Amino acid sequence: MDRRDFMKTTVNGVAAAAMAGLMGFPALAAATRRITQNRRDMKKIIIIDGGPRRNMNTAGMLRAFAEGAESAGEDVEVKTVRLYELDYRGCMSCMACKVKGKASNICKFKDALAPILEEIALADGLVLGSPIYFGDVTGQMRTFLERLAFPWLSYNDYSMTATKRMPVVLIETMNGTPERNNDNGYGSMEYCLASALGEPEHIIAYNTCQVKDYARFELAGFSEDAKRRWREEHWEKDLQKAFDAGRKMAESILR
Ligand SMILES: Cc1cc2nc3c(=O)[nH]c(=O)nc-3n(C[C@H](O)[C@H](O)[C@H](O)COP(=O)(O)O)c2cc1C
Repeated sequence: MDRRDFMKTTVNGVAAAAMAGLMGFPALAAATRRITQNRRDMKKIIIIDGGPRRNMNTAGMLRAFAEGAESAGEDVEVKTVRLYELDYRGCMSCMACKVKGKASNICKFKDALAPILEEIALADGLVLGSPIYFGDVTGQMRTFLERLAFPWLSYNDYSMTATKRMPVVLIETMNGTPERNNDNGYGSMEYCLASALGEPEHIIAYNTCQVKDYARFELAGFSEDAKRRWREEHWEKDLQKAFDAGRKMAESILR
């Protein structure tokens, strides 16, 4: 399915629901809106946005992923968590997850991340998205991953075990190109994710436009023209890749 066709369908669906409501058919409006919260067979995909900007490249890719997943049907709920809007710490080394007889593969430290980690443990799919900063994912993403992964690690036998396995997609955006980049991606955390949840799929948007207007900033190292040309050629395709991956993940967990 083409991402833009899906967008048109969604806009029409919302308009139809609003219209039905206005015309005094509340039952029809409710059906059209697809109230799904209490369905027993709902599957859940959690998207973790590790970038600070709400409306730029990483958020755009994650939105396209969410739309793709939602296009697979009403039985998939997609929740996006923006790490930069949460107040949380990295692993505190409290060792509460490793106490004899009470070991847990979900972090016990109580802060704003705790309920998200509980939700991830029971989710059906996980998506992580981050811009590349100095070759790595953002500090916020790394901090989140410490909390996610340390409880998975057994110091008895060095295995990595999550509550359940699930499909994982890792999304990155960066200035680098496929030929020239300094990308370490999710680094050593990728091994943890692969061992505990499953081998991740990767989607990378290269050579992104870091700003909307290059003329406003000291960015002489970049050619605005070259950036624009790259964007015209690649950005829609990158979004479509994210959309397709979302659709594929949703279809696989609905199967
Ligand atoms: C602090 C900082 C460090 C960055 N470091 C790199 C880097 O090492 N390699 C790279 O290719 N891009 C780097 N970038 C560019 C971003 O990864 C790129 O513009 C990304 O698409 C931004 O994502 P966003 O639009 O979602 O914020 C850096 C940007 C910032 C702000």
